[in-house]
Amino acid sequence: MTIPTSLRDLFSKMRMRRFRFSMALVVVGGVAFGMAQAADYPTNFSNVGGIAYTRHNLTQSTTGISSAMMTVRNNYGEVCVYCHTPHGANENIAAPLWNRTFKDTTYQTYDQLGTSTLTATVNAPGLNSLTCLSCHDGTVAIDSIINMPGSGRYNANSRTSHQEAFLDSWVAVPGQTTVSGKHHALAENSPATTGGCLSCHSGPNGPEVATDFTVAAIGTDLRNDHPVGIDIPTPRFGVDFREPNVNLDRISFYDLDGDSKPDANEIRYYKTGSTYRVECASCHDPHGVSPAVGSPVLPTFLRKTNASSALCLTCHAL
Ligand code: HEC
Ligand code: HEC
Ligand code: HEC
Ligand code: HEC
Ligand code: HEC
Repeated sequence: MTIPTSLRDLFSKMRMRRFRFSMALVVVGGVAFGMAQAADYPTNFSNVGGIAYTRHNLTQSTTGISSAMMTVRNNYGEVCVYCHTPHGANENIAAPLWNRTFKDTTYQTYDQLGTSTLTATVNAPGLNSLTCLSCHDGTVAIDSIINMPGSGRYNANSRTSHQEAFLDSWVAVPGQTTVSGKHHALAENSPATTGGCLSCHSGPNGPEVATDFTVAAIGTDLRNDHPVGIDIPTPRFGVDFREPNVNLDRISFYDLDGDSKPDANEIRYYKTGSTYRVECASCHDPHGVSPAVGSPVLPTFLRKTNASSALCLTCHAL
């Protein structure tokens, strides 16, 4: 769906204090065009046809939302580039051709909660969690990447830190006025005048028509989240945990189709340290997993449906 040009021009001229009005129009547009809804949080994305049609398309190109409304992050006009680059990837991070910057963040981990029943060792989040946390902990701007689209638009210093001036050098796409000094992180909740993501996307406290993102801004305190960086509970296999049936050098997984390859719909442990561990990507695939061609990706980027707690019961045998 595309928003009529006149409406798009209107949006681009909107001042911040008029956002409520313009947002209402977008939402009305979404309803009028009958956006597909699975059992998921409300969204303008169809969730059908791959990552470009999910919330992980940070250009929002498939929503019909005017890019003029989202002047709080560089719109690079490409889906993958917010996370990956074909060249000049982050050499410090053994994640797939990783284009995002990391901060040396210390996380509060689940074991610090002190539950008496926990048996396995909890380590700092591994790479297959740090990738997600580089957006979801709210410390790194959404558009903080190393290699921007276009040749020569590479900043080696970005591998270790957020380079505000480099991010400002991106030339905004037509309709997007300026992003200078407005590179925001998911969890930021600054006033609407400076535009942190949660200033609009925080439900009743923000202009309520922007989707509420507060649950996605999980922060650096992981004590209330399913443990990550936690060792595979080998001693308890056959007791209250199920043993994965394929172990490769770097990954151990529950193979469903017998091909001994870790397919997107298969739950896994990653060898991010001395042993296999549970990480964010054990349960989630950031590209979305569609159970059948043409069907919506599973809600919340899960690798398999959690109906009847099937996802939990892949590992836990209770
Ligand atoms: C929101 C961030 C994000 C975006 C956008 C994204 N990816 Fe990924 N991608 C990841 C993460 C994180 C992993 C590692 C997953 C893991 O730990 O197993 C990954 C892994 C991969 C892999 C390795 C194999 C696999 O499936 O895990 C390929 C290939 C890949 N991505 C391609 C792409 C392409 C092509 C695009 C654009 C169409 C894209 N990705 C967009 C985050 C992203
Ligand atoms: C480039 C930044 C970025 C990266 C990297 C990233 N995300 Fe997201 N993610 C977002 C944004 C922005 C949203 C939109 C917030 C929303 O709609 O709730 C989102 C939404 C989500 C949602 C909610 C989707 C829904 O249907 O409600 C889940 C779950 C999620 N991300 C998991 C992950 C996991 C797991 C990883 C790593 C494998 C990851 N994300 C990596 C930016 C990112
Ligand atoms: C000035 C208000 C404002 C700010 C600040 C803002 N957004 Fe938005 N955003 C909107 C509006 C309005 C929409 C369209 C209505 C909707 O989908 O919630 C939208 C839509 C989105 C969507 C599509 C949601 C969906 O599933 O349909 C994503 C993803 C998104 N914004 C990400 C972000 C991120 C990431 C940031 C911070 C870097 C951010 N937004 C900051 C107003 C804002
Ligand atoms: C053991 C499996 C598992 C692990 C590990 C895991 N998640 Fe989730 N996550 C889930 C399930 C299941 C849901 C859906 C919950 C629901 O529908 O309410 C979910 C939901 C989410 C959501 C949507 C918000 C919400 O609360 O519903 C986000 C964002 C998210 N996960 C991010 C992450 C990140 C980031 C990590 C790593 C720090 C992570 N997850 C690790 C299973 C997991
Ligand atoms: C990839 C495998 C895996 C999946 C999937 C998984 N878990 Fe876990 N879970 C673990 C491991 C490993 C531990 C740590 C067990 C220990 O040390 O006692 C754990 C710990 C827990 C704990 C904390 C136990 C304690 O003693 O404090 C709870 C509760 C839990 N999981 C519930 C769930 C739920 C609910 C789901 C589904 C949404 C789920 N798990 C999915 C592997 C998994």
